[in-house]
This record gives sequence, C-alpha cells and structure tokens, in this order.
Amino acid sequence: MGVLSALVRLLLSPPACRDSQRLAAAIEGKTVVITGASYGIGEATALLLASCGAEVLLLARSAERLEEVAGEIRAAGGKASVYRLDLADPQAIGAVAAQMEAQHPRIHTIISNAGHSIRRPVLHSAEKDDLGRLLAVNFSGPATLLLALLPRMVAQGGGVVVSVSSASALPPGIPRWAAYQGSKAGFDVWLGSLGNELRGRGVRVASVYLPLVRTRMIAPTRAYRFAPALTPLEAAQSVVYPLIQPVRRVAPWWLAGQQIASLLFPNVLDRALSGMEQVERRLSRRREK
Ligand SMILES: NC(=O)c1ccc[n+]([C@@H]2O[C@H](COP(=O)([O-])OP(=O)(O)OC[C@H]3O[C@@H](n4cnc5c(N)ncnc54)[C@H](OP(=O)(O)O)[C@@H]3O)[C@@H](O)[C@H]2O)c1
Repeated sequence: MGVLSALVRLLLSPPACRDSQRLAAAIEGKTVVITGASYGIGEATALLLASCGAEVLLLARSAERLEEVAGEIRAAGGKASVYRLDLADPQAIGAVAAQMEAQHPRIHTIISNAGHSIRRPVLHSAEKDDLGRLLAVNFSGPATLLLALLPRMVAQGGGVVVSVSSASALPPGIPRWAAYQGSKAGFDVWLGSLGNELRGRGVRVASVYLPLVRTRMIAPTRAYRFAPALTPLEAAQSVVYPLIQPVRRVAPWWLAGQQIASLLFPNVLDRALSGMEQVERRLSRRREK
C-alpha cells in the first residue's frame, strides 16, 4: 500500500527539486520571504529552504506557530525571522513590508504561499461573504504585499517571485469552489501580467500549480479523505523548483491535458462536472432525511 501510494503520488507530482546540494547552490545566503509559513506547505518550504542555507522571513497570523518553526530552524543552525501578518488587513501589510525591509537590506525571493479555501454551495456562500474573504487572502492581500516589496527589489536588480497556485486555478470550473477558484485564478493572471512587465527589470515570476496536498486545508473535505495527495514536503520540493530552474510554470504533466480538453471539449467537461454536483446534492438530501 505504501509503495503504491508513493507511486501514485509520483505520477501526480509536478516537477520537483529533490537534490538539496543543487538547491543550496541556488539559494545559500539569500533572503526569502515566505507567506503562510506557520503550517502545511509554507512551513515545509521554510524548513527546506533554511536547511539549504537561505535566511527565511516567516509570515502568517499565528505568531506562536511561526516562533516554533523559527525555533526549529535556529536549533538546526539556520536563520529565521518572524513577522505576524494578517493578509486580510491592508493597513498592516505596508507596515510589515517596511519592517522587513528595514531589518533585511536585500530580499532576493518572495514565496507567495498563504491561502485559504472554502468549499460551499454558491447560494449559501453569499451570506458568509466567502468571495470577499477569499479575495482578500488569496488575491488582494498577497498582491498588496508584493506591490510593497517590488520597488526595492527592482531597484536592487531584481529577484524571483513564486506563487503557490493550484491545479484548480485553471478551467474547468468546479462546482462549490467558485470563490476559491476565482480568487486563485485572479492572482495568477495578475502575477503573469506583472511578470511580463517586470521581466526586463530583473524580476522573474513563476506559478506552481499544485495538485492535492495533505494539509489542514483539505481536512474538512470528506471527498478528499482517501484521494491521493502529496505530502507537504513533496509539495515544497515543487514550490522551490523555480529557484533551481528558470521556469514560468511548474505543473503536473496531466494539467496540460486538462487544459487542452477544456478548450476542445468544454461542454463535455462542464456537463460531467455539473452531473457530479447533481449526484452530490441528491446524496446530501438523502443524508439529511
Ligand atoms: N492543500 C492543498 O491541497 C493545496 C493544493 C493546491 C494549492 N494549495 C495552496 O497552497 C497554499 C498553502 O496551503 P496549505 O495546504 O499549506 O494550507 P494550510 O496548511 O491551511 O496553510 C495555510 C497558510 O496560510 C496562512 N494564512 C491563512 N490565512 C491567512 C491570512 N489571512 N493572513 C496571513 N496568512 C494566512 C496560514 O497561517 P495562519 O493561519 O497562521 O495565518 C497558513 O500558514 C495555499 O495558497 C493553497 O491555496 C493547497
């Protein structure tokens, strides 16, 4: 079972950097900002980069968790600083960016990883303001942080921005994920535009389209309980791939097939997905009886 699930994960995985010497050669002595470093993929990415010699600046709301991650890094001889930040609070973002810049003369890399997901029927979603909340955490907050840090990065000759995106940020639209898909896709397109504008000024951007990863984010979704999923370390090895290879996009091989299929046969995919939604609605009505 263990071997089989490792094989399935390997088949699902995007390209990854599993060679720590190669990673160290690319990032040793560099300063890397990582948002959402308190849990899951961000935490695993911070530990991986710090173990290869990067100085990591850890951002999230849970300051105590960040201190634990930083403590683990320092105990192993690495360098880490903690910045408490709620990306949904636009006023706080500028202040934290200024504080990081004052304390770290050069930021080489930004890993925009923090994010939140909500799976909810769209007609229930409006009263909870799911779209507003997810746009703040997955789009406008990360964008505001980048806009605060980029002017100095450009003035200093450039750097790398990696966005931790999702295979579901690309079509087709999946029922019950409208706010998540919309906010992740919006940030992705915004970053692509910014990347093409700033490429000539030394800034390189990359999007990492992850498949399912076993973190607390997917824990509430019953349908994912037994689905194949990467571990946070496996995901982190894909997140750092653009730091060893100058790629614009890191994606599992099957995502290109999904994109081609959604261009060539949009009706087939849309009908299949809406059929699955109808089955799920029937099942949940039956459970409620
Ligand atoms: N898990 C998956 O299957 C999967 C698949 C594809 C893409 N992704 C993407 O991977 C990224 C990381 O997700 P994960 O699976 O590692 O989830 P996770 O374990 O829930 O971690 C999410 C991180 O984002 C931070 N965060 C959430 N809201 C924030 C806010 N308002 N301000 C600042 N930080 C905030 C959290 O820290 P605090 O709670 O301490 O603030 C936490 O560190 C997300 O962008 C997600 O969209 C995940």
